[in-house]
Amino acid sequence: MMRFAVIGDPIEHSLSPTIHKTFAEQCDIDLTYEHMRVTPESFDDDVNEFFSAGGRGLNVTQPLKTLAFNYAELVTDRAMNAGAANTLKFLDNDMVCADNTDGEGLVQDLQELGVSLNGKRVLLLGAGGAARGSLGALLGEQPEALFIHNRTEATALQLINNYARLGKVDLLESTTSGMSFDVIINATSASLHGVRPDINHTVFKGAVCYDMMYGDNARPFTKWALANGALAAHDGLGMLIEQAAASFMLWHDIQPDTAPVRRMLSQTQAHSR
Ligand code: ATR
Repeated sequence: MMRFAVIGDPIEHSLSPTIHKTFAEQCDIDLTYEHMRVTPESFDDDVNEFFSAGGRGLNVTQPLKTLAFNYAELVTDRAMNAGAANTLKFLDNDMVCADNTDGEGLVQDLQELGVSLNGKRVLLLGAGGAARGSLGALLGEQPEALFIHNRTEATALQLINNYARLGKVDLLESTTSGMSFDVIINATSASLHGVRPDINHTVFKGAVCYDMMYGDNARPFTKWALANGALAAHDGLGMLIEQAAASFMLWHDIQPDTAPVRRMLSQTQAHSR
């Protein structure tokens, strides 16, 4: 039986095993998919062991995405652009290929939600791993303007420079009350630290908002946005499911139907509130 896993730290609450097992049943593929706690210190040994024992693929979450990118002999363009990987595939020639499906997951979810970025004014908050992984896909949607605001300006500038050849991204040093955006995407981890990104709350008015985290971790931001006139505010559960579908496609060459999983998990998540 083909063996897959998701690795990270912490990892025990990951929904990836449920998502991948559901896709596999749907596509009639025999596989096991477990979660494994792997730390940056144990990464090389654990991943070597997994692949030597016949493992076929890994999903990789924080804090291991840069290590996964550096581990692989081959990398896809989108992983190269991000400098980080969320998917490793063991190839028939015994090489490991790194991919990054986070950006595709985000854009696919926005499409499912009926949110178009094409020709729109988009504000991306944050310049860490989550922002890096999705900027290429956001640019691919050809927004009219794409701004990045980050607590540490130098990190945002570095990100902008890395993506300069793929499209135009502007640094937004601060937000003021006259500014408006069609879509605001939160890629910061500020909520995990009990704080809000440093933006003027008036920018939410009339915008569709999105937090890349899901469940309780997304709620401080989505509630704040809605309380200040956002048209809608979504969490990143759909992104998680759609990035998993893109990883599944890479491993099995079959596009799973995400609709039943989206329905199932949005119900479970709603019940656990
Ligand atoms: P990574 O994703 O690279 O592991 P992270 O520490 O989780 O990094 O931070 C992700 C993003 O959230 C970064 O843009 C970070 O801003 P900085 O570049 O200034 O560190 C942002 N972030 C984290 N904590 C924050 C806070 N308390 N307020 C505002 N932004 C924050």
